[in-house]
Amino acid sequence: MFLKNHWYVAAWSEDVGREPLGRVILGEYVCLYRTGDGAPVALENRCPHRNLPLSEGNLIGDSLQCAYHGIEFDCSGACTHIPGQTEIPAWAKVRNYKLAERNRWVFIWMGDPDLADEDLIPDYHKHLADPDWVAVTGQTHVQAGYRLVLDNLLDLSHLTYVHGSTTGNAAVSENAVIETETVNDTVCVTRTMTDIPPATAFVEYGGYQENIDRWQISTFIAPGYIDICNGSEKVGAGTPVDVRKSSQGEWGFVVYHALTPETETTTHQFWCVAGEERCVAPEKRELFGDQMRNVLKEDLDIYEAQQKCINLDPDAVGNDANPRGTIPADEGLLQMRRVIRRLYGDEQKGAATPG
Ligand code: FES
Ligand SMILES: [Fe+2]
Repeated sequence: MFLKNHWYVAAWSEDVGREPLGRVILGEYVCLYRTGDGAPVALENRCPHRNLPLSEGNLIGDSLQCAYHGIEFDCSGACTHIPGQTEIPAWAKVRNYKLAERNRWVFIWMGDPDLADEDLIPDYHKHLADPDWVAVTGQTHVQAGYRLVLDNLLDLSHLTYVHGSTTGNAAVSENAVIETETVNDTVCVTRTMTDIPPATAFVEYGGYQENIDRWQISTFIAPGYIDICNGSEKVGAGTPVDVRKSSQGEWGFVVYHALTPETETTTHQFWCVAGEERCVAPEKRELFGDQMRNVLKEDLDIYEAQQKCINLDPDAVGNDANPRGTIPADEGLLQMRRVIRRLYGDEQKGAATPG
């Protein structure tokens, strides 16, 4: 179940160049490259002649030459040359996908090209491209479906058990007041912890010696984006909730994830952990980066282990609408799944409507 009429991150800008790059996105094989002028291009990654991926081929100017029998395709996917003949048959073409490039990410539109509105691309400028922020970024190939990754990011009680040496402690799972709200295609989970001991990272980087007030605000944006605002301040400082949504208070950081399904059970995870310059002292940036990469790895181990378990008996988990075994902390992930199901239903209805 993939939502097609949405923008997905296809690649980091620096990974798309003059060397063709093959990548499976929503179960479709795509070939990414840049023209000589630097414009990104995405074509169907399957030669219509004998099915060799075009990413095995070479660029001739801005056209792709298949590595098997030399048929060439231009950036629109039209065939421009078949060795030994002048006639170009109707089957000799590949699909072209719409792309947009913003703030170090190349976004791809996998659905109806007439619906590709660039105003729908989420704005990650502040943290991916703002020099006043210190960003740790990466990309992970995840052996788990994208909704398991979203589940993880919408229930941050797991910090206590999965990230206990850095961002989690007992108070994160035991003392949070949780509010969950769906607004259109977004789900916001606000976790507020009052007068709790600071977790290790908050002592290390925030310098706290006493209890703190802490917040975690996760916002899911369909189809696969999560923005988490982690903030803290002295007990009783009283920053209003509306301000906390875009503030890290005295110390904190933001986490951005863009999840692009590869297949039903594998995902391309593009991520960024960023703090304002004042929040991560220069001499501690290397340690901060190492710790955040390790936090990502701790999560990866969890959802890949879940997927393995699910694969052994997919029926045991219940269905998406009625998962087996839920607790109140699951409200965010349940609402996220509801939004995805609604959008999927809308897309199917649209596809079924002639014209
Ligand atoms: S398979 Fe591509 S040209 Fe023959
Ligand atoms: Fe985590």
